[in-house]
Amino acid sequence: MPSEKLPPGPVSRWWSGFFRQYSRDPLGYLTFLFRTYGDVVGLRYFRYRVTFISHPKDIEEVLVNQAKKFAKGRILRANKRLFGNGLLTSEGEFWLRQRRLAQPAFHRARVASYAETMVRYAERMLEAWRDGEERDIHQEMMRLTLQIVAKTLFDADVENDAREVGRALQVVMDLNSNFRRLVMTPPWLPTRHNVRAFFAVRRLNKIIYRIIAERRASGRDTGDLLSMLLAAQDEDGSQMTDQQLRDEVITLFLAGHETTAIALSWTCWLLAQHPRAEAKLQSELNAVLGGRAPNVADLPRLSYLDRVLTESMRLYPPAWGMARLALDDVEIGGYHIPKGSGVSLAQWVVHRDPRWYDNPEEFRPERWENDLVKRLPRFAYFPFGGGPRMCIGNNFALMEAALLLGTIAQRFRLRIVPGHPVVPLPSITLRPRYGIRMTLEARQTAMRASPAGANSAVAD
Ligand code: HEM
Repeated sequence: MPSEKLPPGPVSRWWSGFFRQYSRDPLGYLTFLFRTYGDVVGLRYFRYRVTFISHPKDIEEVLVNQAKKFAKGRILRANKRLFGNGLLTSEGEFWLRQRRLAQPAFHRARVASYAETMVRYAERMLEAWRDGEERDIHQEMMRLTLQIVAKTLFDADVENDAREVGRALQVVMDLNSNFRRLVMTPPWLPTRHNVRAFFAVRRLNKIIYRIIAERRASGRDTGDLLSMLLAAQDEDGSQMTDQQLRDEVITLFLAGHETTAIALSWTCWLLAQHPRAEAKLQSELNAVLGGRAPNVADLPRLSYLDRVLTESMRLYPPAWGMARLALDDVEIGGYHIPKGSGVSLAQWVVHRDPRWYDNPEEFRPERWENDLVKRLPRFAYFPFGGGPRMCIGNNFALMEAALLLGTIAQRFRLRIVPGHPVVPLPSITLRPRYGIRMTLEARQTAMRASPAGANSAVAD
């Protein structure tokens, strides 16, 4: 007999209801709901229902076992003006076809072939860094990962576009940081935020269409993802339209750089606050690399670096929460979830649950020793989601983050700038609201000749 029991939760009253509290402080409010009502929490706001799910086994039900009964949630749908019908937002047969088409660009061996480019771009960035200067590390990482994703997947040089993309993304993320405004305001209403978002998307489109047009004009098949998308044909022989191409390219362009940049930014900030972890990382880098740039073959031996990144994405998951829409009546955790309701899964809450992690608020990379991942319930740690809609770029991101952190940490120690506020902004991603300003301190180690290419320079 299916359960008819609705999950417990607060009773919402008009404007003083949950919407306002959630919009003001999503991370705090979700944590409060979990601590007060438990693993499955229901909220109702007029006809709008959401269920917050925080137990790993229930998350597995949503993402894996009953995945077919769910579609992507309202937030991503509200962002169709940005992502169009690309991989992140599309559904059903169309999504499956596109996913299969893009998959070869993300196979392990293919991803490994991007390593040299990643390190080369990181070294190029470091050449401009000077001992003692102050920089916004988040901005630096955004620029770097944007250039890398554009080069590896689309063979495009976007050095001059990074500022424009950054500005446009800021507008879109600001819009997304207010859930109430996002969901309650129709995108066609000419509000200040909608108008700014419209122009931001237009500026991004210009860059994307330029990349597509340049490739079409060149007629080159470089074997990269863009060439694969351009060559893809339906059974009837028709090719992807420019609009379809634009949707896929912009999705990978944005999903493929913002999240990794955020992971690296929080990692640098956490390391700067934990000198012992930083020193341990340094000695591992010295022992394994001895001053040369890292390559893929080094990664299995950089186990502490891997733990640092894992721990950083536990505490500051770049995708801090995910949403779904129930396409049918569903039962999860013994509760009834009616068709049409929203479902929310928050990495932020699950990754800080004391049932799975001792002193969950503490940054302790060592906790991942002795295969903690294998001892945890599946989905007690899920920075890349799971099931059929799991992040297509997870191997890409993990390798990139490890190579970039290894390259940067050998050359510079990053110091916190006193007084600069570092505050997470829960938008689609968990970016630092005011950036992360840090002071660069050049290390006194000389880089040996790098296998990654020409640009490896001497540190000081
Ligand atoms: C640390 C870095 C990253 C994190 C934390 C991350 C996280 C995620 C998560 C949680 C999802 C699932 C969303 C959902 O199910 O609603 C996702 C999907 C996706 N990610 Fe990532 N991602 C990262 C890096 C990347 C990279 C480097 C790329 C591409 C180069 C990428 C491309 C995508 C795409 C296209 C999807 C949609 C997949 C689909 O639905 O088929 N991501 N990512």
